[in-house]
Amino acid sequence: MGRAFVYVILGGGVAAGYAALEFTKRGVAPGELCIISQEPVAPYERPALSKGYLLPESAARLPSFHTCVGANEERLTPKWYKEHVKSSYLSIIPFLNLIIHFLKWHNFLGIELVLGTRVKSADVRRQTLLTAAGETISYKILIVATGARALKLEEFGVSGSDAENVCYLRDLADANRIADVMQSSVGGNAVVIGGGYIGMECAASLVINKINVTMVFPEAHCMARLFTPKIASYYEDYYTSKGVKFIKGTVLSSFDIDSSGKLLILGMEVDCPADMVVVGIGIRPNTSLFEGQLTLEKGGIKVNGRLQSSNSSIYAVGDVAAFPLKIFGEIRRLEHVDSARKSARHAVSAIMEPDKTGEFNYLPFFYSRIFALSWQFYGDNAGEVVHYGDFSGNTFGAYWVSKGHLVGSFLEGGTKEEYEAIAKATSLKPAIEDLAELERQGLGFALAV
Ligand code: FDA
Ligand code: NAD
Repeated sequence: MGRAFVYVILGGGVAAGYAALEFTKRGVAPGELCIISQEPVAPYERPALSKGYLLPESAARLPSFHTCVGANEERLTPKWYKEHVKSSYLSIIPFLNLIIHFLKWHNFLGIELVLGTRVKSADVRRQTLLTAAGETISYKILIVATGARALKLEEFGVSGSDAENVCYLRDLADANRIADVMQSSVGGNAVVIGGGYIGMECAASLVINKINVTMVFPEAHCMARLFTPKIASYYEDYYTSKGVKFIKGTVLSSFDIDSSGKLLILGMEVDCPADMVVVGIGIRPNTSLFEGQLTLEKGGIKVNGRLQSSNSSIYAVGDVAAFPLKIFGEIRRLEHVDSARKSARHAVSAIMEPDKTGEFNYLPFFYSRIFALSWQFYGDNAGEVVHYGDFSGNTFGAYWVSKGHLVGSFLEGGTKEEYEAIAKATSLKPAIEDLAELERQGLGFALAV
């Protein structure tokens, strides 16, 4: 049993949604495109899961955050996939138009959404995918958008993380679980393991849900992959003012359950009984279907500037793709929503209009919103750091200067114009001769570029 498509998107997350929108903009014909996703719902904006989704009141729920609302574009509901193929294909002759409308009405045409379906193997030579249900789906062009999975504590030798109140966060099912466990933990204690993005955003959501939070992580400060100690100290002070406690430089060894049913986190200097635990200790890209078949690098599928893998029929986008970052002259794999959206769109452009599509020229962009705070970062956090602004107020930031050029910019509490200015300045990589002068000019430097 099998079906054949011209284009197949494997994975139904952020990148898949933006790729689908781009396909329809560029003119995919009815029945040509299929999206296969393990998740039971159409692509959605994953960032909502650690923010609006976990609010105690007026929480975000689907269908409100299907892609592509995160980029102020159309919201692609399941109905949209049934109906959206380029209108020119529907109007060649009126009679054909009628037939196509009939087929679409009966869900025979449109974009095929194959949901709740895991692909268990891929045969790159035969250009086929085999689903867990035993169906073979063949493609002419495949876009791999399988994203990543959350790392489990067991992978670091910690036992007991399968306990009922230990939560991870990658997909909707995880978010529903956290929301349920939070409801029964109001007024109680939560331990957040990991001081990265998930740790910081979930800690804020737990506090907003009136749960006491202790954060535990191995590094000397939070967000160690991006923040300088000075930036981290601002956020840690802010979190402390909200009642969050920090246990740094520590990894736990195991979980236990005490006589009152509370989780005990073992291996740390202080006892930490908890009603719930949220774990955010990083991710691994979902590459296993292609290991031994495609070239891998930096933990992801290696692609060229057209997002094309070592097999010319296969493209990779989003968290799973390791692509050439032109601005810094090296291959990188990014784990952020903006690169998922833009790499997906670029791949579709390269597929549909190869002659008009150049190399992907991307400026890394990361952001987060926690409590009343909001920051943006552009570029690379490499080289020497210059801090600017008022670290005791609401607006401050940092520049990174490498080999005499501005390569990265961070800003907390900026306006739209100020964020645009740091993005533009970073993309231009201006020469910086005097770090003290850059510090003196602060945000004014970016605004004047
Ligand atoms: P994504 O993970 O979105 O989608 C992958 C899809 O492939 C999933 O639907 C998965 O089920 C499916 N799949 C995998 N293997 C499969 C198989 N074998 N068969 C079928 N389907 C399969 N970034 C940012 O810049 N700002 C932010 O605020 C946030 N916030 C945030 C919150 C939370 C809770 C998470 C988990 C992540 C973020 N991110 C973020 C990161 C951002 O969401 C991430 O970079 C993108 O979702 C990546 O998009 P992809 O489409 O590559 O993967
Ligand atoms: P992360 O890489 O941001 O942070 C991982 C953290 O885990 C580290 O900071 C460290 O403190 C901790 N850690 C690592 N090994 C550990 C161990 N053995 N024991 C205890 N702690 C350990 O990853 P994350 O926070 O899990 O986020 C997962 C993914 O989701 C990332 O790709 C991230 O980019 C994405 N995400 C992004 C955003 C955003 O951009 N605003 C928000 C949420 C999630």
